[in-house]
Amino acid sequence: MIRSVVRGFGAALPKRVVTNRELEETVDTSDEWIVQRTGIKQRYIAGEGETTASLGEAAARAALDNAGLTPADIDLIIVATSTPDNTFPATAVNIQNRLGMTHGFAFDVQAVCTGFVYAVATADVYIRGGLAKRVLVIGAETFSRILDWTDRTTCVLFGDGAGALILEAAEGEGTTDDRGVLTASLRSDGSHKDKLYVDGGPSTTGTVGQLRMEGREVFKHAVGMITDVIDAAFAATGTTAEQLDWLVPHQANRRIIEGSAKKLSIPMDKVVMTVDQHGNTSAASIPLALAVAAGDGRIKKGDLVMLEAMGGGFTWGAVLLRW
Ligand code: ACO
Repeated sequence: MIRSVVRGFGAALPKRVVTNRELEETVDTSDEWIVQRTGIKQRYIAGEGETTASLGEAAARAALDNAGLTPADIDLIIVATSTPDNTFPATAVNIQNRLGMTHGFAFDVQAVCTGFVYAVATADVYIRGGLAKRVLVIGAETFSRILDWTDRTTCVLFGDGAGALILEAAEGEGTTDDRGVLTASLRSDGSHKDKLYVDGGPSTTGTVGQLRMEGREVFKHAVGMITDVIDAAFAATGTTAEQLDWLVPHQANRRIIEGSAKKLSIPMDKVVMTVDQHGNTSAASIPLALAVAAGDGRIKKGDLVMLEAMGGGFTWGAVLLRW
């Protein structure tokens, strides 16, 4: 059977680092409060000229270099983002153009923090369906542009960045020993839409709007939703937590990650954690974390890796793959 195998990875961050101490100067917060409640120590914030598409392009070029490929080798680009450069055209098409590509096709996926998980699952379906052979899957965000910088309950949590994976078609045996995407478990439930949302949009206010969140409510649902989809991915493949080499969670909050790992009996030395450095970069957080852990040699070819996320909507999901 055809599998969607990881061929390369890459990431890009804005130039400017903003520490918790710097935020103390503009909002009523403290480094201690932020670290204790979230684990975040710093985040990267996009400056002039840095956009979701420019960060996505840089991550894509890094992934192409890592894979030893050029844009000519890609036939589909999927970008997961909730902070597109423009309402349309899609950021994926913008990045396609920046890469000098006029062949293939490109589109965006919007599932907020779960966007990258949805995008990998979507790429896998296109590859297994024979519609694409090599897909550039990008998570790219500039959440700093939709934050209310006077609201201390949200502005301290998020950051900007981008990460990318290249998935390509390869023959597999149809067993869990195959490299590539083994299963995906995706969910959404719009009855939670008011707990985490942006209070504007083209069809309602005609403005971009700003992020609003009931943090406690999100926290209350997060661990249960995350563990449900991970359990579903294990059940669908007949694999177990003991067999897992790496859990690469969406990097929202250290406490949510630790709570999920504990409930699943996954030891913390198998969990990739970058929230301290990047903050919550929404759809970019998983590919950024993958690039860090594959880049420093922790994630190796053949490792069993679980990706998971939960975010606005609510949306939540997990992808199990063999690296
Ligand atoms: N600095 C200092 N004090 C603050 C700050 C801040 N930045 N923000 C809130 N506080 C205060 C509150 O005003 C409150 O004060 P009060 O008791 O005088 O009213 C106190 O801290 C406690 O506030 P809570 O909201 O109850 O704090 P909590 O322990 O729930 O932590 C947090 C807040 C970190 C947002 C937590 O609820 C959380 O992590 N939620 C998950 C949200 C999340 O990660 N969202 C990301 C998007 S979804 C996703 O990616 C999974």
